[in-house]
Amino acid sequence: MQENSNTSSSPIRPLRWVGLCGSLRAGSLNRAALNAAAELMPAGVSLQLLAYRDVPFFDADDQARGWPPSVLAVADAIRAADGVLIACPEYNFSIPGGFKNLLDWLSRLPEQPLKHKPVAIMGAGTGPLGTARMQYELRRVLHCLEAKVLLKPEIFITHANTKFDAAGQLTDEPTRQVLKVQLAAFQTLCT
Ligand SMILES: Cc1cc2nc3c(=O)[nH]c(=O)nc-3n(C[C@H](O)[C@H](O)[C@H](O)COP(=O)(O)O)c2cc1C
Repeated sequence: MQENSNTSSSPIRPLRWVGLCGSLRAGSLNRAALNAAAELMPAGVSLQLLAYRDVPFFDADDQARGWPPSVLAVADAIRAADGVLIACPEYNFSIPGGFKNLLDWLSRLPEQPLKHKPVAIMGAGTGPLGTARMQYELRRVLHCLEAKVLLKPEIFITHANTKFDAAGQLTDEPTRQVLKVQLAAFQTLCT
């Protein structure tokens, strides 16, 4: 887990966001986008990235035997947060299986952590659509979970391999600007 915080003064109450990356790989462009968000966040907001690599495949029999600690840890962190920032790639026009699996586990919890929780979505893809197809599927799933999803601006980071440098820094200025606008809108939604 990683924490970033912008602590300069703000008239809006301090907010704690958690970040979920739909990609597990070390060099993920979507994790790099979350790191860029941490850098560009409005004053008074902190962001903690959550890990879920150890979450097993969903199996209702396992659920009946007891909740996996890895699922409970993510759920507790989401419940304690003011909002959830998701950056997710598109796999085969859809939501990556590992991330969808996490959402399926969360959906079964008695106090479902995403219910009424503010959520903002962004996605980075190497293709020309910047995860658009995935994002509309993810919105549908989050609708089912009754999350309070930010409508606009949407963030589609197209040809993402050209917009981050070798160190994972977001170098594309228009993308940095729209990300700032989304984060400010999300701050308003969470307040
Ligand atoms: C299994 C798989 C399926 C993919 N399918 C798509 C796709 O449908 N659309 C797309 O734009 N990119 C697709 N890609 C390419 C991803 O956009 C690219 O690998 C991206 O960097 C993944 O995000 P990450 O860097 O955060 O891991 C796919 C990649 C993988 C590994």
